[in-house]
Amino acid sequence: MCGIVGYLGEKEAVPLLLEGLKRLEYRGYDSSGVAILNGKSIARTKCAGKIASLEQALAQQPLHGSVGIGHTRWATHGRPNDDNAHPHTDCHHRIAVVHNGIFENYLEIKERLLKEGHQFRTDTDTEIIPHLIESYYKGNLEEAVMKALKEVRGSYALGVVCQDERNKIIAARMGSPLVIGIGKNETFIASDIPAFLSHTREALLVEDGEIAVITPEGVQLFGEDGKKVDRASFQVLWDAAMAEKGGYKHFMLKEIQEQPKVVSETLAGRLRENSIELDVEMPKKFGRVVFTAAGTAYHAGMVGKYLFETLAKIPAEVELSSEFRYRELCMSKDTLVIAISQSGETADTLAAAREAKQRGHDVIAITNGMGSSLAREVPSFFTRAGIEIGVAATKTFLAQLTAITLLALKTAEDRKTLSPAEFKKIVSEFHRIPELVELALKRENEIRQCAKLFGQRKDFLYLGRHIHYPIALEGALKLKEISYIHAEGYAGGEMKHGPIALIDEEVPVVALALESPVYEKLLSNIQEVRARDATILAVAESGNEQIKKYADHVFYVPKTHWLLSPILGVLPLQLLAYYIADRKGCDVDQPRNLAKSVTVE
Ligand code: G6P
Repeated sequence: MCGIVGYLGEKEAVPLLLEGLKRLEYRGYDSSGVAILNGKSIARTKCAGKIASLEQALAQQPLHGSVGIGHTRWATHGRPNDDNAHPHTDCHHRIAVVHNGIFENYLEIKERLLKEGHQFRTDTDTEIIPHLIESYYKGNLEEAVMKALKEVRGSYALGVVCQDERNKIIAARMGSPLVIGIGKNETFIASDIPAFLSHTREALLVEDGEIAVITPEGVQLFGEDGKKVDRASFQVLWDAAMAEKGGYKHFMLKEIQEQPKVVSETLAGRLRENSIELDVEMPKKFGRVVFTAAGTAYHAGMVGKYLFETLAKIPAEVELSSEFRYRELCMSKDTLVIAISQSGETADTLAAAREAKQRGHDVIAITNGMGSSLAREVPSFFTRAGIEIGVAATKTFLAQLTAITLLALKTAEDRKTLSPAEFKKIVSEFHRIPELVELALKRENEIRQCAKLFGQRKDFLYLGRHIHYPIALEGALKLKEISYIHAEGYAGGEMKHGPIALIDEEVPVVALALESPVYEKLLSNIQEVRARDATILAVAESGNEQIKKYADHVFYVPKTHWLLSPILGVLPLQLLAYYIADRKGCDVDQPRNLAKSVTVE
């Protein structure tokens, strides 16, 4: 939530800060602002609304200078209005701060500062920081920042500038992502690498508790104890072009279409001819698996549960990380915890992984976030989806499913829980999956037509059973996230225990009628809702003619081994959500109230 950027160099800062903020807009987009050191003082522009509003304001009243900080906000404390937009300043506007995170003890600090005579202008927690820094400032910004940070509790990635030190930015991190981009005669700070990727690929990570002092002479890192930290920078392998739309109307559509490549990249070198090779250290012995994740990643974990049970005969469960972290964890010592997170920054998932680790469990991660907080704390199995900009996860979900299937198959291989013939069959089908994903996506037009027919409906139900139940949940989540249409995912067998009361001729029911041991039971569930006048949109394998008798529309996907079919089954649902939302004129890439990575609790 929230994105911060900073620039110190020889160029005009504003265009570079705006470019960085646009790249980070996925982290929040309800208001934004910049502060520039213009030689005399700090000039600041900030406003409610998307970054386009800020851009407009800056076009009308340009700010000049080559050192500055910027922010895009996802409101936590205080409404998203002009006042609460960052950067925030001290009483005399000499110090400006951008912040991502939450200061938990801000109220008590604010009260004290008010008594000391500081003037507050916003409802944010962040505003305590410029005032605290002001109270400690004696001509050395880093010293004042260090002292101020000793008083706060909570999470932060900060960028700070001061009008009395015109060639300096201080950055600090505790629990929120922060990375430095090192260019030629210029340095960037950002919440995420894409913010500066078109200018430099050399990046330096800032760790929790550290502060970075950025001047024209370079970057110096200091630990909590004030001692200098030496850390090498690294080269980012991503391509800046990944963060461009490349002719597509929306990032989401581009990312949906990238999925064949994403799956084959995630399989590369891991799926061998007739074996699995993993580049993550799995514990030798574990008797149980618990997945923990949020949002779409949670649905991937649910698929993982069925895969570990069916392929490797290991009991598996999945827990929302926001629940897991506060439970009495009565897990046997041999439980392997697998945290799944696209970003590797979701606060609840990080906390859940930490809690499990602290209790002595083996913990690994499945993440797309190289260099993310999660990846730095636990051994990680990386999905290779590249940057995902659309807030609604698509390609990273497919990459997670691919990764989880690899882990489950490897466990099955090690434990010999499948016959050699069955193992070989699944592996050889897995090799075909990228090609089958491509084939499935070719039916985009049929789905677009269907979106026209049903896009005005107010409620949708999604049904699935067994390994396709999580896909029903994911299909419903995609639709509600980006089109704001009410949608629920249900396990087919649960329909008659309540949701069937909602059915009438106005409610389309999307049924995952893919092959599985309970396919016929799902057909019965379709019959039950059909008898109550629902319209049925079914997802089924090519060649399944029988389903036409049950469904009003069929989205066909290529046939594969049923345990791999979630990877194909979700594709029409992503496209359906996309085309319905696009027809409604919704902001597909940046749906209201959401943020791509939720770095606050
Ligand atoms: C947010 C995003 C979702 C995502 C979830 C978990 O809610 O909007 O798309 O699934 O966070 O994110 P993670 O990065 O941990 O996978």
